[in-house]
Amino acid sequence: MTEKIQQLLKEVENFTSESMEEVEAFRIRMLSKKGLISELFQAFKNLPPAEKKTVGQQLNQLKVTALDKVNSLKQAIEEQQTRQKSSEKYPDLTLPVDFAQTGSRHPISIIRNQINQIFEKIGFVISEGPEIEDDWHNFSALNFADEHPARDMQDTFFVEKNPDIALRTHTSSVQVRVMDGQKPPIRTISPGRVFRNEAISARAHCIFHQVEGLYIDKKVSFADLKHVLDHFAREFFGAHTQIRLRPSYFPFTEPSAEVDVSCPFCKGKGCNICKGTGWVEIMGCGMVDPNVLDNCGIDSKVYSGYAFGMGIERITMLKYMVNDLRLYFENDMRFLKQFETAF
Ligand code: PHE
Repeated sequence: MTEKIQQLLKEVENFTSESMEEVEAFRIRMLSKKGLISELFQAFKNLPPAEKKTVGQQLNQLKVTALDKVNSLKQAIEEQQTRQKSSEKYPDLTLPVDFAQTGSRHPISIIRNQINQIFEKIGFVISEGPEIEDDWHNFSALNFADEHPARDMQDTFFVEKNPDIALRTHTSSVQVRVMDGQKPPIRTISPGRVFRNEAISARAHCIFHQVEGLYIDKKVSFADLKHVLDHFAREFFGAHTQIRLRPSYFPFTEPSAEVDVSCPFCKGKGCNICKGTGWVEIMGCGMVDPNVLDNCGIDSKVYSGYAFGMGIERITMLKYMVNDLRLYFENDMRFLKQFETAF
């Protein structure tokens, strides 16, 4: 009997496994009611009393060792399993962080959003329209005479040689659509892409972006226009910024003006950006010509309005000191990455 016990004890001590099923099978073989150790306990009952004491101790020792073995192996396997599960959830927490590559907004989008926000805060609503326009919305309704040079092939991209359909040359076309469809008061800005048949250079491009504004109500005056432009300039370029208006001409506004801001770089002292004048031009504006109101079904005897329009590329140049228009369209990562932190 002692020999049998020693043999089983060795077997128990040598047993190892990483499989729960194997450990359980081992437990059943050794410790279950019909297991080898239980069988020995049965045989133990028939031993002569003189042998019972030592054999009893050996037998107990075998049982405890077997129980310990089974429990410790099961525990080890369980721990290993939970470790595996959590490592699936959290890979290796000690690995160095791999920063995800984030994109950045295009500078034109950043500035367009800023302009939109300034006007939205004072009640202007954003409106959009088609980039392919008909002559009426882009020119005729806006009081362009038939022989106006802007209609000329050199300035305008016509679609499939149809003189009535063209890529819009300004977003004033959207304002015609708004006036056509709504009753005053109207207070809207139209940001969007526009197209002109120009040779591409550092200072000109055939595609660019505009934001145009329109306000129509009873008794809208030039003073209202000046006030809103002054507000925009100070919000956009900083509180110290001043504006000045110079008389100009647009077919759709009367009177018309060009708007300059005090140079944002030299604060009006004169530098090479403002060519020593202390001023830079940022947009065109004026009181909506009564003909335009009437063309769009708004009674010019009751209502008046102002309009303004600016090129986003130009304003972006002034904000970020970009000196070549072509950079906006080339998608050079070295250029775009500089705007990662702006929104
Ligand atoms: N539409 C003009 C342009 O493209 C800008 C402008 C808009 C001027 C509104 C006056 C009033 O140049």
